[in-house]
This record gives sequence, C-alpha cells and structure tokens, in this order.
Amino acid sequence: MEELLKTYQTVAQNEVINWVSVGKAADFPANGGGCIKYKSKQIAVYYFQRTDTWYACQNLCPHKMEMVLSRGMIGDASGIPKVACPLHKKTFSLENGSNLNGEDYSIATYPVKIEDGNVYIGFAD
Ligand code: FES
Repeated sequence: MEELLKTYQTVAQNEVINWVSVGKAADFPANGGGCIKYKSKQIAVYYFQRTDTWYACQNLCPHKMEMVLSRGMIGDASGIPKVACPLHKKTFSLENGSNLNGEDYSIATYPVKIEDGNVYIGFAD
C-alpha cells in the first residue's frame, strides 16, 4: 500500500518535463471529475466551470487506498477548490493537495493546461 502511495508525488509547474495530452476539454464533465491513466498512475481531472479552472490530482484516496477521488464532490472551502472523497468525505485542497480535515495524509497534485481545446497534465517522469 505504501508503495502505491509513493507512486504519487506532487509536481510543481516548474518541475514538469512531460506535458501529456489526456483528451479534449469538451469530453470532461463540467463541475465534475474524470479519470485518466498515465503509466501506472490514475489521475483525477476536474473542471470548475464557474472559475474556468482545471485541477488534477491522484485518483487514489489515501484514507482507505481506494481509486475514487475522480468521483468525489468538488466545491470550494473558503476560496480553496476542493474535492471530497465519495466514500467517507475526507476533503483535500486541489491547489496543494493538503488535507482540509486536518489529518496527516494528503494527496499529490499535478499542473493542468489547456491548448487548442486539449487538456494536458504535467508530469515529472
Ligand atoms: S476512502 Fe476516501 S475518505 Fe475513506
């Protein structure tokens, strides 16, 4: 389990060495999540229509190691875009992956960019 979690490390914008095209923006749900696969990783991708912003994070919820975060509820916690796991509602910031419930586990986040209607996620591997 620990090994699986280690697969996911936050990538900062300036650490990206590989922008991976993951599909057309129009194919992702507005105000919801989709899931893509890159190498052995499952990545959740979200589009917030109101602010026209995109976020990506690991699909793996670190609470019980379930691949479910793309199906979580997204929203806003005092201005911080967040996702709540659909299983037990643990909530994470989509800006930096921090645990908004105050627990000591967090999630990895990845940069997203849109070019010519396509969604790209930034990886460091
Ligand atoms: S598995 Fe995600 S909150 Fe429990």
